[in-house]
Parts: sequence; structure tokens; C-alpha cells
Amino acid sequence: MSNTNSRIFLSPPFVGAAERAAARGAFDSGYVAPCGPQVDEFERRLAKLAGRKYAVAVSSGTAAIDLLMADLGVDETWTVVAPTLTFIATVGPAFHRGAKLVFIDSDATGNIDVSLLEEALTTLRTKHQRRSRESTSGVAAKAPRTLVIGVDLYGNCCDYGAIARLCREHGAVFVTDAAEAVGATCAGRPAGSAGLAGVYSFNGNKIVTTSGGGAIVTDDRGLAERARKRSQQSREKCIWYEHREVGYNYRMSNILAAIGLAQLDRLPAILKKRRENFDWYAKNFGGDLLSPAPGANHWLTVAVLASIRERDRLLRRFAAADIEARPVWKPLHLQPVFAKCRVFGGEVAEALFRRGVCLPSGTGLASGDFKRIADCLS
Ligand SMILES: Cc1ncc(COP(=O)(O)O)c(C=O)c1O
Repeated sequence: MSNTNSRIFLSPPFVGAAERAAARGAFDSGYVAPCGPQVDEFERRLAKLAGRKYAVAVSSGTAAIDLLMADLGVDETWTVVAPTLTFIATVGPAFHRGAKLVFIDSDATGNIDVSLLEEALTTLRTKHQRRSRESTSGVAAKAPRTLVIGVDLYGNCCDYGAIARLCREHGAVFVTDAAEAVGATCAGRPAGSAGLAGVYSFNGNKIVTTSGGGAIVTDDRGLAERARKRSQQSREKCIWYEHREVGYNYRMSNILAAIGLAQLDRLPAILKKRRENFDWYAKNFGGDLLSPAPGANHWLTVAVLASIRERDRLLRRFAAADIEARPVWKPLHLQPVFAKCRVFGGEVAEALFRRGVCLPSGTGLASGDFKRIADCLS
């Protein structure tokens, strides 16, 4: 459809006449702005998809995470716990607010290792309790708080039930970064449905795209209203520009929401095709694949090679054939910028980074593309 050149991309946008007509419809309606009926409708459809009461459509998944951090009041007194095997945007907004970052290794599925999360939360609780007891300044210090950001890696939901239970037990806030998991489910519950709120991304490479965009989904009405207001510069309801706080310019454009609506119409067909892509690899790739969780949306299929040499050999073959493939996320605890952050475990994610390759997984992959991919795999 949209990819007319010879390069096979990892996960390009799958858009066509329906999206063009939807964007033109929004344009012709005069709502060429970050508000309008398509944004409202997109939010209604997203809330339904997520099994949540409210959705707030914004300019990116990162903006959605930033708005959550703003609402929670994340600052240097907070510790933010996240899986190490994820994209930097999961923790970027918390980092910018001065929070202390703690990373957790993956289990065999690639997602956060729940037993290591438990160890981390226990350690943090003991540390926070000791710090509160030792605080002798006389000034009422802000109690340290903990936030756990669960991530649905490559469209596989993390263990919502276990993480929510641990967060309850340890007094931590839980939110889900379901940026990669639109349309996936976890034990029958939609991606993004766990914790205080979930986040979606509609970046160009995601399973559903608005070219760039994101959303918060939540059952908390106050949170949704505050996030929506903050995404529009926190303007008060008043005929002049009145501000009691400083907000952000994060709202989704109405034209992009129209594209998103056309994409949501396609979601069942997209999920079916992504699953077929995975099945093709399962049949035609001789080696191991990262097992998708039940309910996965198969955003990216991941090959796990025997060694880093094998990984690099496969990547070279793809590159020579003008096919995009990538190593899995470099664990955040190995990133120079996070060198001082604490990590619980790390070896599983490091091994996945050394041996894992994200394979071309686009919705538009055709039989000719699979032939070229097969040549690289053999
Ligand atoms: C896990 C994860 N979190 C957050 C994001 C950020 O989303 P966006 O690119 O829409 O800002 C992405 C994707 O890009 C992601 O993969």
C-alpha cells in the first residue's frame, strides 16, 4: 500500500485510501486544529478499546507519559521502577523531573521479571522507611514515593495481575506503558487497562498510527480532565487566557485523530495479518523466536540467535538485501546516560540484546517480501 520503494521496513505505516479520505474529511470540516469531533470520537473509541472510562489523545506516547508524571507530581523524591528492556521514552519524562530510576531485568518472555520487581520494591520500602526515621531536619520532608511503569514489550503484555498486586502490597503507584501493545490483551483484559492509567503510542512504526500521536487511558475522571487541560497549556475556562498553572502543548490534532479513526477500523485486520507474519516466521525460520504472550498483538516478531556473531551475520544479510531489521532494545542499564542507576539482575536482558533481532513485521508484508526475507534467513 504505502510502501512503493524496494526497501522493506521493520514496521512501516499501513495507510491508504481510507486514511486519506478521513484526513481530507477532517480538513474539509474546518477542524484543522487540536480539537474537533474526530478527536472526541477517537477518544471514545480508544477508551472502549482499552476497557477504560476515559481517553486523552495527545501528540505522542512520550507526551502521554509526561502528562502522567506531571499529574502524579513526580520529582526528585520519587523512585521510578521500570524494566530495563524498553525504549528510553518509558523513563525519559521521569528522568527529566529528577526522579531516581531503578531498572529490572526481563524474564524469559522479555517482559519485566516479577520476582526481581518484588525484591526491588522490598528493598526500596525498607530504604524509604529508614530515610523517614532518620530525617532529623525538623522540616516536614516529602515522603518518598515509588512508581512502577509496566511495559508491554513488542506487543506482549506484562503480568498485569502480579505487578498490580505487588504495587498494592508495597504502596507503589502502577501505570502501564502499552505504547507497543494497542489491541493486545492480558488474560482477557485490554493492553493499558491495568493500574492507574495506561499509555498508547501511535507513532509511524506502531501497529496503529496517526503518523505521530499517543493517548492516556484511565478510569480516573480527575486525572483525565487534568491531563486534557495540561495538554492545552492549562488554560482556564474563561474568555481571556487565564492560567493558574503552567501546562503543555501536547493535544492531538483533529486531522491526525481522523487518521487514527480509520486505523482503528482496520485494527482487526491488522492484528490478523501481524499474527500471520509471526506464523510465517515460526514456520520458515529455523531458530528460536521470542514466544509471544497469549493475547499478543505481534507488533514485532523477534528472533533469538545462538550468539552475537549469528545476530550480526543476520543483520548484515538483511542490510545487504535492503531490509530493515534491528537488535532488540539495548537495556537501559547499559545506556551511558543511566550508568549510575541501580539495576536488579540484568543478564537476561543483556543476552536478549546480544542475540535478539526484531524481524520485519509490517502489516503490508506481501509474498514477494517474504521471499526476500526467506533468502536472508536461510
Ligand atoms: C515502550 C515505548 N514507550 C514509549 C514510546 C514513546 O512513544 P512515542 O514515540 O509516540 O512518543 C514508545 C515508542 O516509540 C515505546 O516503544
